[in-house]
Amino acid sequence: MLNAKTDPDSALNPKTIRPGATIGMLGGGQLGRMFFLAAKQMGYHAVVLTDSEGSPAALVADSVIVGDYTPQNLEKLASQCDVVTLEFENIPDAAVQHLAKRVPTFPPASILRIAQDRHLEKRTLAEMPLPVTPFRTVEHPGSEAGIKELSEAAAAFGFPLILKTARSGYDGKGQKKVANQEELIAAANEFGNERIVAEKMIAFEREVSVLVARNQQGETAVYPLIENQHRNHILAISHSPAAASPEIEKAAVQIAETVAKKLDLVGILCVELFEVPGEGLIINEIAPRPHNSGHLTIEGSSTSQFEQHVRAVCGLPLGDTSPRCPAAMFNLLGDLWGDDGSDPPFEQALTVPGVSLHLYGKTEARPGRKMGHLTAVGKTVEEALRRVYEAYELLVE
Ligand SMILES: Nc1ncnc2c1ncn2[C@@H]1O[C@H](COP(=O)(O)OP(=O)(O)OP(=O)(O)O)[C@@H](O)[C@H]1O
Ligand SMILES: [Mg+2]
Repeated sequence: MLNAKTDPDSALNPKTIRPGATIGMLGGGQLGRMFFLAAKQMGYHAVVLTDSEGSPAALVADSVIVGDYTPQNLEKLASQCDVVTLEFENIPDAAVQHLAKRVPTFPPASILRIAQDRHLEKRTLAEMPLPVTPFRTVEHPGSEAGIKELSEAAAAFGFPLILKTARSGYDGKGQKKVANQEELIAAANEFGNERIVAEKMIAFEREVSVLVARNQQGETAVYPLIENQHRNHILAISHSPAAASPEIEKAAVQIAETVAKKLDLVGILCVELFEVPGEGLIINEIAPRPHNSGHLTIEGSSTSQFEQHVRAVCGLPLGDTSPRCPAAMFNLLGDLWGDDGSDPPFEQALTVPGVSLHLYGKTEARPGRKMGHLTAVGKTVEEALRRVYEAYELLVE
């Protein structure tokens, strides 16, 4: 495994990249945008390699390289930057390896390879050993052997069973829940030759996530648990603190630290977890980047997840992860926009005390597309949640 502290030939030797330097980003979405806003506040320059001049991160960057991850574009990015990071994990690891030879690039390609593949991810975590959702990997679901393997998984885990493509899933895309053998066969045929994992459906009490940062010096910092509610497989609402016991909080910290250290993380990483009555925490998946559930750290924490990511990749001391106040976040999906592209009445939502509006600068609203979010802070988590629901309702006409 790539080790920043012991590999003398790599460009990854611990080195503080001081404010005034330039940070590069692969990928131009909202995570990149909020990362850049934090980086610029700290005096860094921001360069993005993205497929569009109008992408959310490009709109706030100091300089934009438009194009694919070609060797030429990667060279151009490397030549302009002191450090490079990634906006999301589905970036070809060859591109990241190429960059890492030229400029310090975090997180390392080794983590991406794991996070890009559900099979490898679950196997790696299980070997740590950490609790993961029981699963079976099926190489060719549509084949006779594949259907047999899936039927065995259903016999072991019961129905409903969740089938997920091993690669390129996000916001529930590439997932199918099957309730019986007939649905299982139909889904298997649809997946065809695409490798999938079949997962046991977990009867969780709540979904939570934990953010952990680790810098080049190996220092780690873990945030308190965040509680999440999904609608249609897309994150809808998060709040923190979560309604979790001290034992669960402790277990989450231990999981987060283990993952960060064993994967040799440099940057920030989110562990998505299910809390199961009588069993404790089970890992759903990891994301080696700032996470949608962590957006509430902008208003709710001493150090936002984006600032923490800047600190981690620049080799700065990590920031305080303690809460400033209870906070709740509600995602704004494209469904809230009119068919004619008209905006929801933001000014209405802003009448609610403690509410902040974040918009990502996307001009085209599509159903399910993350356009922005609302965060509300309060004296209690109940107050924060009440406020964010109230503000959201004012946007729904
Ligand atoms: N095995 C499972 N048991 C119960 N619920 C599940 C399971 N797998 C997924 N889900 C539900 O579906 C949601 C999305 O699943 P998952 O995180 O695997 O998908 P994703 O496409 O990577 O989503 P995202 O990008 O939003 O994290 C989970 O947060 C959870 O609510
Ligand atoms: Mg997920």
